[in-house]
Order: sequence, then structure tokens, then C-alpha cells
Amino acid sequence: MSHTPTKKGIFTAGVLSNRRIGECFWKMELEFTGGGAKAFARFHPGQFLQIDVSEVGLPPEDHIPAHLRDACRRNVLLRRPFSFADVTAEMDRTTAELLYCVLGPASVRLTSLTTGDSVSTIGPLGNGFSVPRHKQLALLVVGGMGAPPIRCLAKYLRAEYPEMKAIAFVGAKNAAALPFEGHLDEISAGVDSFIPAFARFGIPSAVATNDGSAGYRGFISERLSQWLDEQKDWSTKETIVYSCGPEPMLAAVAHIAEQRGIDCQVSMERRMACGIGLCQSCAVECRVEGSQEAVYKLCCQDGPVFDAREIVFGE
Ligand SMILES: Cc1cc2nc3c(=O)[nH]c(=O)nc-3n(C[C@H](O)[C@H](O)[C@H](O)COP(=O)(O)OP(=O)(O)OC[C@H]3O[C@@H](n4cnc5c(N)ncnc54)[C@H](O)[C@@H]3O)c2cc1C
Ligand code: FES
Repeated sequence: MSHTPTKKGIFTAGVLSNRRIGECFWKMELEFTGGGAKAFARFHPGQFLQIDVSEVGLPPEDHIPAHLRDACRRNVLLRRPFSFADVTAEMDRTTAELLYCVLGPASVRLTSLTTGDSVSTIGPLGNGFSVPRHKQLALLVVGGMGAPPIRCLAKYLRAEYPEMKAIAFVGAKNAAALPFEGHLDEISAGVDSFIPAFARFGIPSAVATNDGSAGYRGFISERLSQWLDEQKDWSTKETIVYSCGPEPMLAAVAHIAEQRGIDCQVSMERRMACGIGLCQSCAVECRVEGSQEAVYKLCCQDGPVFDAREIVFGE
């Protein structure tokens, strides 16, 4: 399936709610009306939006993590890219859910937004995940902050490809860092309906944490590899891996998929200034088929989702 690009624009979003979930993540619900409702109704999983926080104030000092207090004082002139974890389009309004980590000046400012506030956004931007013909099984591989676009994809696959089976593989450094809600510390090393955000679409999940505090002890790429080794009657041609998370994890997942001849799409992250292909700050080194040459593509415009075979991952 190829996806028709949606028309992007600058749209104001109303904040419906914004709260902390777990140790590391915040969840914010946004509402778009008018042109924004139409544009984001066609938002495709893997696309992103840029948020302007230049007019958003800092939260009270004691709400800012101590290690970020100095860094946060600087003004934030550039918009920041975020994916959606969920999008719901109604008649004349579209609501969307963001999941974000507090890492620096922009994301700290996001935590000060409350119901009734508004923010300026540009989107939908970039190219999202696609579903090639004849795929019957989707393996959704998430590492930490990579959860939002994969959650959005899970909902999309259930709605548009109800016959397709899917399993989520979710990794984080420990149970508290899993970007989901639920009884996450009770998760075992098997494959079951552990993560409500996937289970609601009939998608079971396997979980891995580096310290073994939930699920398999180790990296989620190892758990994926182990699961693939256990499968007997299945077709690699009918399988596809979709992944988003830290780049070393994406490199490992891409390698596992390539070794087994499984198609794989990865959502890449780069620091972005403009988000619309003008500043060249988001280069991704890509292979040229049939050649030793490499070219640089733009994460914001050619991606953020790429065929994993294209990417020249760093060492
Ligand atoms: C397409 C795309 C989608 C994204 N979706 C989400 C999302 O759904 N939820 C979410 O929490 N974050 C997401 N991000 C990352 C988010 O944009 C950054 O966390 C945010 O810009 C940080 O801004 P800041 O001012 O708070 O911190 P900064 O001061 O800009 O950064 C703080 C720290 O985080 C690192 N960092 C910042 N941005 C990135 C990045 N893109 N890749 C790797 N390291 C980075 C910096 O090196 C620095 O160490 C996405 C990024 C991209 C490119
Ligand atoms: S962010 Fe400016 S070209 Fe990609």
C-alpha cells in the first residue's frame, strides 16, 4: 500500500489534558478543529508534527528535574518534532495523543501546558509506515521513546488490515521506563496480552527490560531473534517488521530482519530544525542500490520511516 501524502499546514491545537504517566513519560491530548481537524484526520502512522513552545512558559522550579534546571532557562526558538500515539477523527474535530519524554528545554515546557491552553503545530510531516502487498504478519518492535508511532500503527493495522496478525515486542531499560500504563511489573517473559495499548487491538506483546524487572532480561532485539528462531511453519515473505526506538536497537533489528530475509521499516530520529526539507540538518546516510556509494536523505522529508536495507547505521 502506498500512502497519499496529506496536505501540511500550520495549525493551532487545544490542550485537552496533559499528565505524567509512570516515571519517564507524559501523555498529552490535543484537539484540532477547522483545517487542522481535516489535515490531522489524514495523519498516517509514522508521520510527525513540529510543536512551537517559544511562547510556553517553564513550570515551577520544583517541577523541573534538577539536572535540567540550568539548561531549561534558554529560549526555545526551534519547533520540536513529535509523533502521535493515537489519532481519532470525528466530524469536525480530530483528537490526538502525544507521549513524550522530558529531556530538555522544549519538553520541560510542554509539561506546563494544561487543559484549555493552545500550541502552534506544523504537520502532518514526513512519510509514515507502509504496508506492502501480501503481508500477513506484522512484528511491531518498540524501544523506549519509540512507542508512539508504533502504537498508532497498531490501531491503523487493526482498522485497515483486520486479517493481518501482529505481535508487539517492547523493550525498555526497566519496568518503570516502559512507556505504557498497566500492571507492567507483573509481566512475564512469554507472549501475552501484557500491554493494554496493544491488547485492545487483539495484539499480544513480548516485553524485555535490561534489568529483567519486567519480561525477558536483555535487549528486545534478542527477544525478537529468540522468538523468530522458535517459529516453524511461517513465511518470511509474508512477514514485516516495523520498528522505532534508539538507533543501536534499530540497527540490531534491521540486521536480524535482513539475515532472515524479512522486510523491515524503521522510523529514524534526527535533530530537526525546519522539519520541511529546507535546513538540511536531519541527514540520514543511505545506500544506493547496486553501488558502493552512499547518499544523504532527509529524515524530515524522505523519512522518518525508511526501508531498513537503505540505512547505513553508525558503528
Ligand atoms: C520524527 C521524530 C518523532 C519524534 N517523536 C517523539 C515522541 O513521540 N515522543 C518523544 O518524547 N520524543 C519524540 N521525538 C524526540 C523529540 O523531538 C525530542 O525529545 C525533543 O526535540 C527534545 O527537545 P528538548 O528541547 O526537550 O531537548 P533537547 O535539549 O533538544 O535535547 C535533550 C537531549 O535529548 C537528545 N535528543 C533530542 N532530540 C533527539 C532526537 N531527535 N534524537 C536523539 N536524541 C535527541 C539531545 O541530544 C539531548 O541530549 C521525536 C523526534 C523525531 C525526529
Ligand atoms: S529538519 Fe530541516 S531539512 Fe530536515
